[in-house]
Amino acid sequence: MSNSRDSKDEKKKPRDPSRRRFLKGVGLASATAAVADKLWVEAEAAEKQQPATKRSLSGTVTVVLNVNGQKRTVQVEPRTTLLNTLRNHLEPQVTGPKLVCDAGTCGACTVLLDGKPVYSCLVLAVDAIGKQITTAEGLGSPESMNAVQSAFVEKDGLMCGFCTPGFITTISAYLKKNPNPSLTEVREACKGNFCRCGTYPRIFEAALAAAKSETSSAD
Ligand code: FES
Ligand code: FES
Repeated sequence: MSNSRDSKDEKKKPRDPSRRRFLKGVGLASATAAVADKLWVEAEAAEKQQPATKRSLSGTVTVVLNVNGQKRTVQVEPRTTLLNTLRNHLEPQVTGPKLVCDAGTCGACTVLLDGKPVYSCLVLAVDAIGKQITTAEGLGSPESMNAVQSAFVEKDGLMCGFCTPGFITTISAYLKKNPNPSLTEVREACKGNFCRCGTYPRIFEAALAAAKSETSSAD
């Protein structure tokens, strides 16, 4: 019953002219847009009032790194790893450390931070500020190789060479700590570096030869 009355009432309602209905719709849309604009402006103002340190987290930061004895200034996001910064943001790039697993498992990205081997894929560039960063390039050059680099060439300690800069930085740091290691100790020192080509015997042979040449030149 009530349904039929409602439908009669409905019929009695003056019809809204389509133009008026359209204008109502436009008015509502404009009001919504005005509210959205206001909220946007307020959010922007609130962000500007934040301390500079908080604001900078949403963009890039200027980082000054000491790479192989040189000051290198670079703009990176705070989340950028040291490996990514060295390889992709510095100009010229430092490509000795290699990107392989990007997860701290293979050692191809090993660099020295204040003399200690670290996986640069696990270190943020901002955390390397104020530290000495040494890559394979900083240990020697093709014209003037360090003992480990020379021994790798002499003992043919590489195949594809992707793992080589990581092994060279690790072994160079280790020989400073232990200049006269045994084979077992060298193997232990290299346990964080993987060689997918399986060149381990020659790598270890090169490490022992480098140790020998260093100790004999010191005598
Ligand atoms: S790339 Fe960093 S440990 Fe593999
Ligand atoms: S030489 Fe190819 S991964 Fe080691």
